[in-house]
Amino acid sequence: MAILIFFSKYYLFMILITTMTAAAMNVTAASTTNSSSSTLLTTFVFGDSLTEVGNNNYLQYSLARSDYPWYGIDFGGGQATGRFTNGRTIGDIISAKLGIPSPPPYFSLSKDDDALLKGVNYASGGAGILNDTGLYFIQRLSFDDQINLFKKTKETIKAKIGDEAANKLCNESMYFVGIGSNDYVNNYLQPFLSDGQQYTHDEFVELMISTLDQQLLRLYKLGARKMIFHGLGPLGCIPSQRVKSKTGQCLKRVNEWVVEFNSKVKKLIVSLNGRLPSAKFMFADTYQDVYDLIEKPEVYGFKVSNTSCCNVDTSIGGLCLPNSKPCQNRTDYVFWDAFHPSDAANQVLAEKLFSSLFSAPPPKPH
Ligand SMILES: *[C@@H]1O[C@H](CO)[C@@H](O)[C@H](O)[C@H]1NC(C)=O
Ligand SMILES: *[C@@H]1O[C@H](CO)[C@@H](O)[C@H](O)[C@H]1NC(C)=O
Ligand SMILES: *[C@@H]1O[C@H](CO)[C@@H](O)[C@H](O)[C@H]1NC(C)=O
Ligand SMILES: *[C@@H]1O[C@H](CO)[C@@H](O)[C@H](O)[C@H]1NC(C)=O
Ligand SMILES: *[C@@H]1O[C@H](CO)[C@@H](O)[C@H](O)[C@H]1NC(C)=O
Ligand SMILES: *[C@@H]1O[C@H](CO)[C@@H](O)[C@H](O)[C@H]1NC(C)=O
Repeated sequence: MAILIFFSKYYLFMILITTMTAAAMNVTAASTTNSSSSTLLTTFVFGDSLTEVGNNNYLQYSLARSDYPWYGIDFGGGQATGRFTNGRTIGDIISAKLGIPSPPPYFSLSKDDDALLKGVNYASGGAGILNDTGLYFIQRLSFDDQINLFKKTKETIKAKIGDEAANKLCNESMYFVGIGSNDYVNNYLQPFLSDGQQYTHDEFVELMISTLDQQLLRLYKLGARKMIFHGLGPLGCIPSQRVKSKTGQCLKRVNEWVVEFNSKVKKLIVSLNGRLPSAKFMFADTYQDVYDLIEKPEVYGFKVSNTSCCNVDTSIGGLCLPNSKPCQNRTDYVFWDAFHPSDAANQVLAEKLFSSLFSAPPPKPH
Protein backbone atom coordinates (compact mmCIF):
# COMPACT_ATOMS: atom_id res chain seq x y z
CA MET A 1 0.00 0.00 0.00
CA ALA A 2 2.84 2.31 0.84
CA ILE A 3 4.41 1.34 -2.44
CA LEU A 4 1.24 2.12 -4.26
CA ILE A 5 1.07 5.59 -2.80
CA PHE A 6 4.73 6.16 -3.46
CA PHE A 7 4.41 5.22 -7.10
CA SER A 8 1.27 7.13 -7.65
CA LYS A 9 3.10 10.35 -6.94
CA TYR A 10 5.36 9.68 -9.86
CA TYR A 11 3.01 8.12 -12.31
CA LEU A 12 -0.08 10.24 -12.34
CA PHE A 13 -2.49 7.56 -11.57
CA MET A 14 -5.20 6.38 -13.61
CA ILE A 15 -7.83 5.10 -15.47
CA LEU A 16 -10.66 6.17 -17.43
CA ILE A 17 -14.21 6.62 -18.16
CA THR A 18 -16.11 5.52 -21.05
CA THR A 19 -18.81 4.46 -19.00
CA MET A 20 -19.31 0.93 -18.47
CA THR A 21 -19.51 -2.53 -19.36
CA ALA A 22 -21.79 -5.17 -19.94
CA ALA A 23 -23.68 -7.84 -21.27
CA ALA A 24 -26.55 -7.37 -23.42
CA MET A 25 -28.05 -6.07 -26.53
CA ASN A 26 -30.86 -7.06 -28.62
CA VAL A 27 -30.11 -10.45 -27.16
CA THR A 28 -33.69 -11.09 -26.37
CA ALA A 29 -34.77 -9.78 -29.72
CA ALA A 30 -32.25 -12.03 -31.42
CA SER A 31 -33.18 -15.04 -29.38
CA THR A 32 -36.69 -15.57 -30.57
CA THR A 33 -35.93 -19.09 -31.73
CA ASN A 34 -34.97 -20.24 -28.23
CA SER A 35 -33.32 -23.29 -29.74
CA SER A 36 -29.91 -22.74 -28.27
CA SER A 37 -30.71 -20.62 -25.27
CA SER A 38 -27.62 -21.88 -23.45
CA THR A 39 -25.33 -20.06 -25.90
CA LEU A 40 -27.43 -17.01 -26.53
CA LEU A 41 -26.32 -15.12 -23.51
CA THR A 42 -22.66 -16.01 -23.70
CA THR A 43 -20.95 -12.64 -23.47
CA PHE A 44 -17.35 -11.64 -24.06
CA VAL A 45 -16.42 -8.30 -22.54
CA PHE A 46 -13.49 -6.12 -23.63
CA GLY A 47 -12.57 -2.81 -22.10
CA ASP A 48 -10.92 -0.70 -19.44
CA SER A 49 -11.48 0.18 -15.79
CA LEU A 50 -15.13 1.00 -16.38
CA THR A 51 -15.73 -2.65 -17.24
CA GLU A 52 -12.93 -4.44 -15.42
CA VAL A 53 -13.98 -7.00 -12.82
CA GLY A 54 -10.55 -7.99 -11.56
CA ASN A 55 -8.00 -8.98 -14.25
CA ASN A 56 -5.39 -6.50 -13.08
CA ASN A 57 -5.31 -8.15 -9.65
CA TYR A 58 -3.46 -10.95 -11.41
CA LEU A 59 -0.86 -8.65 -12.98
CA GLN A 60 1.78 -8.50 -10.30
CA TYR A 61 3.33 -5.19 -11.30
CA SER A 62 0.27 -3.34 -12.52
CA LEU A 63 -0.24 0.06 -10.93
CA ALA A 64 -3.75 0.26 -12.37
CA ARG A 65 -5.48 -1.60 -9.59
CA SER A 66 -8.28 -1.27 -7.10
CA ASP A 67 -7.92 -4.35 -4.93
CA TYR A 68 -7.81 -2.40 -1.68
CA PRO A 69 -10.29 -0.44 0.43
CA TRP A 70 -12.31 1.71 -0.15
CA TYR A 71 -13.07 0.02 -3.45
CA GLY A 72 -15.95 -2.43 -3.21
CA ILE A 73 -17.25 -1.00 0.05
CA ASP A 74 -20.78 -1.29 -1.38
CA PHE A 75 -20.20 -4.54 -3.25
CA GLY A 76 -21.67 -7.69 -1.71
CA GLY A 77 -19.70 -8.26 1.48
CA GLY A 78 -17.72 -5.05 1.02
CA GLN A 79 -15.00 -6.78 -1.01
CA ALA A 80 -12.45 -4.98 -3.15
CA THR A 81 -12.77 -7.18 -6.23
CA GLY A 82 -10.76 -5.09 -8.66
CA ARG A 83 -13.80 -3.14 -9.84
CA PHE A 84 -13.01 0.57 -10.05
CA THR A 85 -16.01 1.77 -8.08
CA ASN A 86 -17.55 1.44 -4.65
CA GLY A 87 -20.05 -1.16 -5.86
CA ARG A 88 -21.22 -2.57 -9.18
CA THR A 89 -20.17 -1.71 -12.71
CA ILE A 90 -22.80 -0.96 -15.33
CA GLY A 91 -22.09 -4.42 -16.75
CA ASP A 92 -22.85 -6.09 -13.43
CA ILE A 93 -26.17 -4.30 -13.28
CA ILE A 94 -27.15 -5.12 -16.87
CA SER A 95 -26.16 -8.77 -16.39
CA ALA A 96 -28.35 -8.97 -13.31
CA LYS A 97 -31.26 -7.47 -15.22
CA LEU A 98 -30.80 -10.15 -17.86
CA GLY A 99 -30.65 -12.81 -15.21
CA ILE A 100 -27.14 -13.92 -16.10
CA PRO A 101 -23.99 -13.82 -13.96
CA SER A 102 -21.55 -11.01 -14.74
CA PRO A 103 -18.81 -12.72 -16.82
CA PRO A 104 -15.76 -13.49 -14.64
CA PRO A 105 -12.28 -12.07 -15.18
CA TYR A 106 -10.27 -14.11 -17.71
CA PHE A 107 -7.42 -14.64 -15.26
CA SER A 108 -9.73 -16.06 -12.59
CA LEU A 109 -10.52 -19.06 -14.83
CA SER A 110 -8.33 -22.11 -15.10
CA LYS A 111 -7.08 -22.92 -18.59
CA ASP A 112 -9.74 -25.49 -19.39
CA ASP A 113 -12.53 -24.20 -17.18
CA ASP A 114 -16.02 -24.99 -18.48
CA ALA A 115 -17.03 -21.52 -17.36
CA LEU A 116 -15.28 -20.21 -20.51
CA LEU A 117 -18.30 -21.41 -22.44
CA LYS A 118 -20.54 -19.00 -20.55
CA GLY A 119 -18.61 -15.80 -21.14
CA VAL A 120 -15.42 -14.07 -20.09
CA ASN A 121 -14.42 -10.55 -19.15
CA TYR A 122 -11.03 -9.44 -20.54
CA ALA A 123 -11.25 -5.79 -19.46
CA SER A 124 -8.25 -4.19 -17.82
CA GLY A 125 -7.91 -0.84 -16.06
CA GLY A 126 -5.55 1.50 -17.86
CA ALA A 127 -6.06 -0.19 -21.23
CA GLY A 128 -6.62 1.59 -24.51
CA ILE A 129 -7.01 1.08 -28.23
CA LEU A 130 -3.36 2.02 -28.70
CA ASN A 131 -0.55 -0.08 -27.27
CA ASP A 132 1.25 2.76 -25.55
CA THR A 133 -1.82 4.08 -23.75
CA GLY A 134 -1.44 3.81 -19.97
CA LEU A 135 2.16 2.74 -20.29
CA TYR A 136 3.08 4.17 -16.92
CA PHE A 137 0.85 1.57 -15.26
CA ILE A 138 3.61 -0.93 -16.14
CA GLN A 139 1.11 -3.75 -16.77
CA ARG A 140 -2.38 -3.73 -18.27
CA LEU A 141 -4.04 -5.62 -21.11
CA SER A 142 -4.27 -3.41 -24.20
CA PHE A 143 -7.20 -4.06 -26.53
CA ASP A 144 -4.84 -6.08 -28.76
CA ASP A 145 -3.79 -8.16 -25.73
CA GLN A 146 -7.44 -8.76 -24.87
CA ILE A 147 -8.21 -9.95 -28.40
CA ASN A 148 -5.20 -12.29 -28.23
CA LEU A 149 -6.59 -13.78 -25.03
CA PHE A 150 -9.99 -14.23 -26.65
CA LYS A 151 -8.27 -16.08 -29.50
CA LYS A 152 -6.78 -18.43 -26.91
CA THR A 153 -10.20 -18.85 -25.33
CA LYS A 154 -11.63 -19.84 -28.70
CA GLU A 155 -8.89 -22.48 -29.13
CA THR A 156 -9.76 -23.88 -25.72
CA ILE A 157 -13.45 -23.95 -26.60
CA LYS A 158 -12.63 -25.79 -29.83
CA ALA A 159 -10.66 -28.39 -27.90
CA LYS A 160 -13.64 -28.85 -25.60
CA ILE A 161 -16.62 -28.97 -27.92
CA GLY A 162 -15.15 -29.30 -31.43
CA ASP A 163 -14.56 -26.78 -34.20
CA GLU A 164 -18.06 -26.62 -35.52
CA ALA A 165 -19.78 -26.11 -32.17
CA ALA A 166 -17.10 -23.62 -31.12
CA ASN A 167 -17.58 -21.55 -34.29
CA LYS A 168 -21.31 -21.60 -33.73
CA LEU A 169 -20.98 -20.57 -30.11
CA CYS A 170 -18.62 -17.71 -30.98
CA ASN A 171 -20.86 -16.53 -33.83
CA GLU A 172 -23.87 -16.47 -31.57
CA SER A 173 -22.23 -14.82 -28.58
CA MET A 174 -22.53 -11.20 -27.61
CA TYR A 175 -19.42 -9.02 -27.69
CA PHE A 176 -19.30 -5.96 -25.53
CA VAL A 177 -16.53 -3.43 -26.12
CA GLY A 178 -15.96 -0.24 -24.11
CA ILE A 179 -12.58 1.28 -24.81
CA GLY A 180 -10.97 4.60 -25.76
CA SER A 181 -11.22 6.72 -22.59
CA ASN A 182 -7.65 5.94 -21.59
CA ASP A 183 -6.40 6.86 -25.05
CA TYR A 184 -7.38 10.37 -23.96
CA VAL A 185 -7.03 10.43 -20.18
CA ASN A 186 -3.89 8.31 -19.99
CA ASN A 187 -2.31 9.19 -23.30
CA TYR A 188 -3.30 12.13 -25.50
CA LEU A 189 -4.11 14.44 -22.58
CA GLN A 190 -0.89 13.68 -20.71
CA PRO A 191 1.64 16.38 -21.47
CA PHE A 192 4.62 14.14 -20.76
CA LEU A 193 3.65 11.45 -23.28
CA SER A 194 4.57 11.83 -26.90
CA ASP A 195 1.23 11.24 -28.62
CA GLY A 196 -0.19 14.60 -27.52
CA GLN A 197 2.83 16.36 -28.99
CA GLN A 198 3.33 14.21 -32.02
CA TYR A 199 -0.23 14.36 -33.37
CA THR A 200 -2.91 16.94 -33.92
CA HIS A 201 -6.27 15.74 -32.65
CA ASP A 202 -7.39 15.02 -36.22
CA GLU A 203 -4.37 12.78 -36.71
CA PHE A 204 -4.79 11.13 -33.34
CA VAL A 205 -8.44 10.32 -33.91
CA GLU A 206 -7.60 8.87 -37.35
CA LEU A 207 -4.93 6.70 -35.77
CA MET A 208 -7.40 5.42 -33.18
CA ILE A 209 -10.13 4.75 -35.75
CA SER A 210 -7.84 2.92 -38.19
CA THR A 211 -6.47 0.83 -35.31
CA LEU A 212 -9.97 0.09 -34.05
CA ASP A 213 -11.03 -0.90 -37.57
CA GLN A 214 -8.34 -3.60 -37.61
CA GLN A 215 -9.18 -4.72 -34.08
CA LEU A 216 -12.92 -5.09 -34.68
CA LEU A 217 -12.18 -6.86 -37.96
CA ARG A 218 -10.02 -9.31 -36.06
CA LEU A 219 -12.84 -9.96 -33.60
CA TYR A 220 -15.18 -10.53 -36.54
CA LYS A 221 -12.78 -13.07 -38.01
CA LEU A 222 -12.79 -14.83 -34.66
CA GLY A 223 -16.58 -15.05 -34.81
CA ALA A 224 -17.98 -11.79 -33.47
CA ARG A 225 -21.25 -11.02 -35.22
CA LYS A 226 -23.29 -9.34 -32.48
CA MET A 227 -21.35 -6.53 -30.90
CA ILE A 228 -22.08 -3.47 -28.83
CA PHE A 229 -19.47 -0.76 -28.82
CA HIS A 230 -20.06 1.54 -25.92
CA GLY A 231 -19.06 5.10 -26.81
CA LEU A 232 -17.22 7.50 -24.56
CA GLY A 233 -18.76 9.77 -21.94
CA PRO A 234 -17.96 13.48 -21.49
CA LEU A 235 -14.39 13.04 -20.28
CA GLY A 236 -13.99 16.80 -19.95
CA CYS A 237 -16.40 16.67 -16.98
CA ILE A 238 -14.75 13.97 -14.89
CA PRO A 239 -13.25 15.34 -11.68
CA SER A 240 -9.65 14.67 -12.81
CA GLN A 241 -10.16 16.93 -15.83
CA ARG A 242 -12.26 19.63 -14.13
CA VAL A 243 -9.48 20.42 -11.70
CA LYS A 244 -7.43 21.58 -14.68
CA SER A 245 -9.82 24.49 -15.24
CA LYS A 246 -9.44 27.43 -12.88
CA THR A 247 -13.16 27.50 -12.13
CA GLY A 248 -13.82 23.77 -11.89
CA GLN A 249 -15.79 23.72 -15.13
CA CYS A 250 -15.96 20.92 -17.68
CA LEU A 251 -13.18 21.12 -20.27
CA LYS A 252 -15.06 21.98 -23.41
CA ARG A 253 -12.33 21.11 -25.82
CA VAL A 254 -11.94 17.62 -24.35
CA ASN A 255 -15.68 17.04 -24.64
CA GLU A 256 -15.59 18.18 -28.28
CA TRP A 257 -12.83 15.69 -28.99
CA VAL A 258 -14.82 12.89 -27.39
CA VAL A 259 -17.90 13.77 -29.44
CA GLU A 260 -15.77 13.67 -32.57
CA PHE A 261 -14.33 10.28 -31.60
CA ASN A 262 -17.82 8.93 -30.92
CA SER A 263 -19.16 10.11 -34.25
CA LYS A 264 -16.23 8.54 -36.11
CA VAL A 265 -16.67 5.22 -34.30
CA LYS A 266 -20.34 5.30 -35.21
CA LYS A 267 -19.41 5.71 -38.89
CA LEU A 268 -16.88 2.93 -38.58
CA ILE A 269 -19.55 0.61 -37.17
CA VAL A 270 -21.89 1.43 -40.06
CA SER A 271 -19.08 0.75 -42.51
CA LEU A 272 -18.16 -2.58 -40.86
CA ASN A 273 -21.79 -3.69 -40.97
CA GLY A 274 -21.77 -2.91 -44.69
CA ARG A 275 -18.49 -4.68 -45.40
CA LEU A 276 -18.85 -7.77 -43.23
CA PRO A 277 -21.56 -10.32 -43.99
CA SER A 278 -23.96 -10.94 -41.07
CA ALA A 279 -22.19 -8.42 -38.83
CA LYS A 280 -24.68 -6.75 -36.48
CA PHE A 281 -22.50 -4.27 -34.70
CA MET A 282 -24.09 -1.50 -32.70
CA PHE A 283 -22.86 1.77 -31.32
CA ALA A 284 -24.34 2.60 -27.91
CA ASP A 285 -24.07 6.34 -27.46
CA THR A 286 -24.53 7.29 -23.81
CA TYR A 287 -22.63 10.60 -23.95
CA GLN A 288 -25.79 12.68 -23.52
CA ASP A 289 -27.15 10.55 -20.69
CA VAL A 290 -23.92 10.86 -18.73
CA TYR A 291 -23.77 14.59 -19.47
CA ASP A 292 -27.34 15.10 -18.22
CA LEU A 293 -26.59 13.22 -15.04
CA ILE A 294 -23.57 15.44 -14.43
CA GLU A 295 -25.35 18.69 -15.35
CA LYS A 296 -28.56 17.98 -13.46
CA PRO A 297 -27.65 15.57 -10.68
CA GLU A 298 -30.63 16.60 -8.54
CA VAL A 299 -33.06 15.33 -11.18
CA TYR A 300 -31.70 11.85 -10.52
CA GLY A 301 -31.51 12.17 -6.74
CA PHE A 302 -27.83 13.14 -6.50
CA LYS A 303 -26.35 16.14 -4.72
CA VAL A 304 -22.84 16.43 -6.15
CA SER A 305 -21.37 15.80 -9.59
CA ASN A 306 -18.41 18.18 -9.83
CA THR A 307 -16.17 16.37 -7.40
CA SER A 308 -15.82 12.80 -6.16
CA CYS A 309 -17.21 11.09 -3.07
CA CYS A 310 -13.75 9.95 -2.10
CA ASN A 311 -11.54 12.92 -1.23
CA VAL A 312 -8.91 11.96 -3.74
CA ASP A 313 -5.74 13.93 -4.29
CA THR A 314 -5.79 14.67 -8.00
CA SER A 315 -2.22 15.97 -7.85
CA ILE A 316 -1.11 12.36 -7.34
CA GLY A 317 -3.66 10.77 -9.61
CA GLY A 318 -7.17 10.47 -8.32
CA LEU A 319 -7.89 6.95 -7.15
CA CYS A 320 -9.50 6.38 -3.77
CA LEU A 321 -6.42 5.29 -1.84
CA PRO A 322 -6.67 3.61 1.59
CA ASN A 323 -5.69 6.84 3.33
CA SER A 324 -8.47 8.79 1.57
CA LYS A 325 -11.72 9.63 3.24
CA PRO A 326 -14.98 8.73 1.47
CA CYS A 327 -17.99 11.03 1.79
CA GLN A 328 -20.77 10.50 4.34
CA ASN A 329 -23.45 9.43 1.90
CA ARG A 330 -22.13 7.60 -1.15
CA THR A 331 -25.46 7.75 -2.95
CA ASP A 332 -25.27 11.55 -3.08
CA TYR A 333 -22.31 11.55 -5.47
CA VAL A 334 -22.17 10.85 -9.21
CA PHE A 335 -18.42 10.18 -9.04
CA TRP A 336 -16.76 7.75 -6.71
CA ASP A 337 -13.17 8.77 -7.47
CA ALA A 338 -11.71 11.27 -9.93
CA PHE A 339 -12.43 8.99 -12.91
CA HIS A 340 -15.21 6.54 -12.19
CA PRO A 341 -18.93 6.80 -11.49
CA SER A 342 -20.30 5.62 -8.17
CA ASP A 343 -22.44 2.52 -7.82
CA ALA A 344 -25.52 4.75 -7.58
CA ALA A 345 -24.61 6.56 -10.81
CA ASN A 346 -23.93 3.24 -12.55
CA GLN A 347 -27.43 2.17 -11.56
CA VAL A 348 -28.96 5.20 -13.29
CA LEU A 349 -26.74 4.80 -16.37
CA ALA A 350 -27.36 1.06 -16.62
CA GLU A 351 -31.14 1.61 -16.52
CA LYS A 352 -30.87 4.07 -19.38
CA LEU A 353 -28.58 1.90 -21.43
CA PHE A 354 -30.71 -1.14 -20.80
CA SER A 355 -33.87 0.55 -21.99
CA SER A 356 -32.12 1.89 -25.09
CA LEU A 357 -30.83 -1.59 -25.95
CA PHE A 358 -34.13 -3.26 -25.25
CA SER A 359 -36.42 -0.60 -26.58
CA ALA A 360 -37.86 -3.03 -29.10
CA PRO A 361 -41.03 -4.73 -27.88
CA PRO A 362 -40.33 -8.13 -26.36
CA PRO A 363 -40.24 -10.86 -28.99
CA LYS A 364 -43.35 -12.97 -29.34
CA PRO A 365 -42.81 -16.49 -28.11
CA HIS A 366 -43.53 -19.20 -30.61
C1 LIG B 1 0.73 -3.55 -30.54
O1 LIG B 1 1.90 -4.33 -30.46
C2 LIG B 1 1.80 -5.59 -31.10
C3 LIG B 1 3.11 -6.32 -30.92
O2 LIG B 1 3.49 -6.29 -29.60
C4 LIG B 1 1.47 -5.44 -32.56
O3 LIG B 1 1.28 -6.70 -33.13
C5 LIG B 1 0.21 -4.64 -32.70
O4 LIG B 1 -0.05 -4.38 -34.04
C6 LIG B 1 0.33 -3.32 -31.95
N1 LIG B 1 -0.95 -2.66 -31.98
C7 LIG B 1 -1.09 -1.38 -32.09
C8 LIG B 1 -2.49 -0.88 -31.98
O5 LIG B 1 -0.17 -0.62 -32.27
C1 LIG C 1 -19.76 -18.40 -38.24
O1 LIG C 1 -18.35 -18.37 -38.10
C2 LIG C 1 -17.67 -19.04 -39.12
C3 LIG C 1 -16.19 -19.04 -38.77
O2 LIG C 1 -15.88 -18.22 -37.70
C4 LIG C 1 -17.95 -18.39 -40.44
O3 LIG C 1 -17.25 -19.05 -41.47
C5 LIG C 1 -19.44 -18.43 -40.71
O4 LIG C 1 -19.73 -17.75 -41.90
C6 LIG C 1 -20.18 -17.82 -39.57
N1 LIG C 1 -21.60 -17.97 -39.79
C7 LIG C 1 -22.46 -16.99 -39.66
C8 LIG C 1 -23.89 -17.31 -39.90
O5 LIG C 1 -22.11 -15.85 -39.36
C1 LIG D 1 -19.22 22.26 -7.07
O1 LIG D 1 -20.35 23.05 -7.25
C2 LIG D 1 -20.74 23.78 -6.08
C3 LIG D 1 -22.02 24.55 -6.38
O2 LIG D 1 -22.85 23.89 -7.25
C4 LIG D 1 -19.67 24.72 -5.67
O3 LIG D 1 -20.04 25.37 -4.48
C5 LIG D 1 -18.38 23.95 -5.46
O4 LIG D 1 -17.33 24.84 -5.18
C6 LIG D 1 -18.03 23.12 -6.66
N1 LIG D 1 -16.89 22.30 -6.33
C7 LIG D 1 -15.86 22.17 -7.14
C8 LIG D 1 -14.77 21.26 -6.68
O5 LIG D 1 -15.76 22.77 -8.20
C1 LIG E 1 -28.27 9.32 1.49
O1 LIG E 1 -28.78 10.05 0.38
C2 LIG E 1 -29.96 9.49 -0.17
C3 LIG E 1 -30.28 10.25 -1.44
O2 LIG E 1 -30.07 11.62 -1.28
C4 LIG E 1 -31.07 9.55 0.87
O3 LIG E 1 -32.23 8.97 0.34
C5 LIG E 1 -30.63 8.80 2.11
O4 LIG E 1 -31.59 8.96 3.12
C6 LIG E 1 -29.29 9.32 2.62
N1 LIG E 1 -28.83 8.44 3.67
C7 LIG E 1 -28.31 8.93 4.78
C8 LIG E 1 -27.86 7.90 5.76
O5 LIG E 1 -28.18 10.10 4.99
C1 LIG F 1 -33.16 -3.73 -31.38
O1 LIG F 1 -33.81 -4.43 -32.39
C2 LIG F 1 -34.88 -3.70 -32.95
C3 LIG F 1 -35.63 -4.61 -33.92
O2 LIG F 1 -34.85 -5.70 -34.31
C4 LIG F 1 -34.32 -2.46 -33.64
O3 LIG F 1 -35.36 -1.70 -34.20
C5 LIG F 1 -33.61 -1.62 -32.59
O4 LIG F 1 -32.97 -0.52 -33.22
C6 LIG F 1 -32.56 -2.45 -31.91
N1 LIG F 1 -32.00 -1.69 -30.82
C7 LIG F 1 -30.83 -1.17 -30.91
C8 LIG F 1 -30.37 -0.40 -29.72
O5 LIG F 1 -30.11 -1.33 -31.91
C1 LIG G 1 -37.69 -21.90 -24.46
O1 LIG G 1 -37.18 -23.09 -23.93
C2 LIG G 1 -37.70 -23.42 -22.69
C3 LIG G 1 -37.00 -24.66 -22.16
O2 LIG G 1 -36.41 -25.40 -23.20
C4 LIG G 1 -39.21 -23.65 -22.81
O3 LIG G 1 -39.78 -23.99 -21.54
C5 LIG G 1 -39.84 -22.39 -23.30
O4 LIG G 1 -41.22 -22.56 -23.51
C6 LIG G 1 -39.19 -21.96 -24.60
N1 LIG G 1 -39.68 -20.66 -24.98
C7 LIG G 1 -40.04 -20.40 -26.23
C8 LIG G 1 -40.42 -18.98 -26.48
O5 LIG G 1 -40.01 -21.21 -27.12
